[in-house]
Amino acid sequence: MTTHAEPATEPPVSEAADTDDEVTTDPGWFRKAVVYQIYPRSFADSNGDGIGDLPGIISKLDYLQKLGVDVVWLSPIYTSPQDDNGYDISNYRDVDPLFGTLADLKKLTDGLHSRGMKLVMDLVVNHTSDEHPWFVESRSSKDNPKRDWYWWRPPRENPEAGPGSGAEPNNWGSAFSGPAWEFDQVTGEYYLHLFSRKQPDLNWENPEVRAAVYEMMNWWLDRGVDGFRMDVINFISKDTSLPDGLKAEGMLFGDGSPHFMSGPRIHEFLHEMHLEVFAGRDKPLLTVGEMPGVTVEDAVLFTDPARREVDMVFQFEHVALDQEDGNKWRPRKLRLTDLKQSLGRWQEGLAERGWNSLYWGNHDQARAVSRFGDDGQYRELSAKMLAGILHLHRGTPYVYQGEELGMTNMSFGAISDYRDIEVLNHHREATTHLGHTDAEVLAALAPLNRDNARTPVQWDASRHGGFTTGAPWIAVNPNTSHVNAAEQVDNPDSVFSFYRKVIALRHSEPVVADGDFTMLLPDDEHVYAFRRSLLGPASASGAGATPGVQLLVLGNFSGEDRTVELDGGGWGDAEAGAAELELGHYPAELILGNYPHDGAGTHDTVTLRPWELKVFRRQHNN
Ligand code: NOJ
Repeated sequence: MTTHAEPATEPPVSEAADTDDEVTTDPGWFRKAVVYQIYPRSFADSNGDGIGDLPGIISKLDYLQKLGVDVVWLSPIYTSPQDDNGYDISNYRDVDPLFGTLADLKKLTDGLHSRGMKLVMDLVVNHTSDEHPWFVESRSSKDNPKRDWYWWRPPRENPEAGPGSGAEPNNWGSAFSGPAWEFDQVTGEYYLHLFSRKQPDLNWENPEVRAAVYEMMNWWLDRGVDGFRMDVINFISKDTSLPDGLKAEGMLFGDGSPHFMSGPRIHEFLHEMHLEVFAGRDKPLLTVGEMPGVTVEDAVLFTDPARREVDMVFQFEHVALDQEDGNKWRPRKLRLTDLKQSLGRWQEGLAERGWNSLYWGNHDQARAVSRFGDDGQYRELSAKMLAGILHLHRGTPYVYQGEELGMTNMSFGAISDYRDIEVLNHHREATTHLGHTDAEVLAALAPLNRDNARTPVQWDASRHGGFTTGAPWIAVNPNTSHVNAAEQVDNPDSVFSFYRKVIALRHSEPVVADGDFTMLLPDDEHVYAFRRSLLGPASASGAGATPGVQLLVLGNFSGEDRTVELDGGGWGDAEAGAAELELGHYPAELILGNYPHDGAGTHDTVTLRPWELKVFRRQHNN
């Protein structure tokens, strides 16, 4: 192994990967793509009302193009009472005036397309708002034709003592605290809501519901959008007997998830959706299903192209490792070996069939650098290291707005500083029914609450971070004074510029998109290490594949120097690695790193400095 003195060879920084024409024939185009998520409410405000909007996004299109992303996923902008910030939709075919108009959305779509980017909309069809006309009709009487579009059940005959009325049809809790059932006076029955009481669950057993959803999806595709991110889509098939869930010690409600996560008809519904909406459309589209609780085995089925369900899923395993029993209000320290074990298993499980999505954060998760890195002294270094590690896995990476700036968690004070319904409901439940003090609850919810990710994007160093000229709907992180886009966009050493390089590498280097993945050093508690390998094309004589390209990716997840052994250039398991590709004798070059100088290394060892990332590449030279 050799290392160069600085500057390390950098990949050319390119704009978005492909034009529409180039990708039309390639159904796996998204392997080379990077998706950027916009949470509109917190992105950029154009009219001074303190809430981000579509014209605000349009004003930042050059920024997105400069970053080099290929696809923008827009969190919901549809008409909504905003009980859950737009994940409660009352009209699927219009834009909420908070965010703008359908004409603004058209302008955004065109602006993205003309810059070679695609637009993926959020599809929230496990539930609607209780103000959606479908639900208004459904609740109006027991014999309304839309009654069966939702889950209505009579009160339980023998009420139990509990924090709800006790007569709920089963003991399930809602994701936002309290029971998953709401009593409706009009007809004397309960309706099911897995999220807030203003988000009644649609009944996908009813073919009319499915037809209405598919029609709406087709309407959007016909208007030029390029796909959907499907909200909790593996909740749409429920065990129709709606049985009680197990109630764990100290919990107020039963866990209904085994009865609605990836339920009995989920594959049938997604395949039907594919046939009714996506089949026969010839332009490249993206479908990604958000799937809490999905297993690797099931993800293979969901994403195997031959089964025609979805392109990829968001799994949740790696974002539950820093919690006791998957409970975000009981945070614990993450062990790097757990993270490697989990992500490595997903890489392996989807190696032959299906495809991974890759993410550290989104609008429901804490900020990546605060959670997996060090948001103090090593904020910039660790944000860059995390980018390199994630994006060089096999799968399609997602960047959540502000991640590319190394934005951090927010330090909120009182409960009145929070805005998220999930946090507010939990605080109320924990301080009333569970007997915790305000201080205890605030301390427990600080690291992983969703408002961490929802503070406005920090565009500059001014008081409200250049996000709004008015009063922001949620406070701007005061570290906008030194963590902001204005400082980073043209600074070659910034986190933003590092993201540009990593994104460009996926576009220019086929091993990133298509290579095999092998986890190395699985027992090392500090260093994340893996190898990517891509054989060259089969030789003309038909003598099999020619030797190809390998990457070695090393990331130090600690604030101390760490030395790793490189086994004389073998880069791990010789049989599957260097020997197979006949690469052991070829020199490796450092193609990406987050320190200005290469640092120490020999043929046998590399010493990584605090939060250092090193990416080596070697290639067979014929
Ligand atoms: C998942 C979304 O990402 C989250 O923000 C929302 O609260 C729930 N689904 C309910 O729609």
